[in-house]
Amino acid sequence: MTHAIGEAPGKVLLIGEHAVVYGHPAIAIPVRGVQARVEVELTRHGGMELLAPDLQGPEAKGDHADAIAPLLRLANSVLELFGEGSQGVRLVIQSTIPIGHGMGSGAAVSVAIVKGICAALGRTLTPDQVSELALEAEREFHGNPSGVDSAVVARNEPIYFVRGKPPQTIAVGSETFRFLIADTGIPSPTYKVVNDVKALRDREPARVDSYLWELGSMASVMREIIRGGSAQELGVCMNHSHGILRELGVSSSDLDRLVEAAVEKGGLGAKMTGAGRGGAMIALLGSATDEERLSAELRLAGAQEIYSTTLGGG
Ligand code: PMV
Repeated sequence: MTHAIGEAPGKVLLIGEHAVVYGHPAIAIPVRGVQARVEVELTRHGGMELLAPDLQGPEAKGDHADAIAPLLRLANSVLELFGEGSQGVRLVIQSTIPIGHGMGSGAAVSVAIVKGICAALGRTLTPDQVSELALEAEREFHGNPSGVDSAVVARNEPIYFVRGKPPQTIAVGSETFRFLIADTGIPSPTYKVVNDVKALRDREPARVDSYLWELGSMASVMREIIRGGSAQELGVCMNHSHGILRELGVSSSDLDRLVEAAVEKGGLGAKMTGAGRGGAMIALLGSATDEERLSAELRLAGAQEIYSTTLGGG
């Protein structure tokens, strides 16, 4: 086959952003309502071409401004891995995942490229091999990525992730967890916020390490809740983690406003998600929470876009 499609979902972090960079556990879940899609065409005459209107348009700032060259290098690495380095390739990338909003758009595009080229060559890789390749491109975007983004979008399942170790898929128990993700509409380059946390840790190691350790411990508690606990318990953990992320200085007034609105207007818990300072927050709905009403309240509190996703229930 010379023509194929590669796809990957968006993602959010349920717990452990920033802590995961320092070796603590995190939980990430796919957001399947948004996705990156890459059309791959192999050509015998060599050469590489990449068309990415969503990445190259006026929105393409921050982490994605120089995305094209790393993505071409990634495509070349996949071809070379299979001894097909002389093949030419044409990639057309489309993505509905907002760029720089903590929803894993860079990782999803990279994973979709790897999957699409594999499909075009008629070859397969394990999800861990796919995410390892995609991580090469992410290193060029972010500098020091933990790898959690590429791991969750390559698996398309909720994962418990510790840097440098194989991710573990989390089997959801009998509870269905319903979430709303509300985007502030403000892009925030991950590498800048990660660098700021590093600078704070250099200045105040004991305080920052105790926060990072607490976030990591909560990831283990939340994994058990997803396997067999209640949505109420998960909500408590989410609220607590938002407080810690505020102490780390990675929230913002826009994110705090959305988190407060979610909790006041019927959510069981809420927190910012991803690097912070902009991007999105995630709210957990109770069984009695009216999704449309809460979405309207979040829009009143400043949300520019709202996405929903669930864990479990089928
Ligand atoms: O790309 P974002 O905004 O979802 O941030 C990823 C989470 C961080 O822990 C802040 C960075 C990382 O590499 O894990």
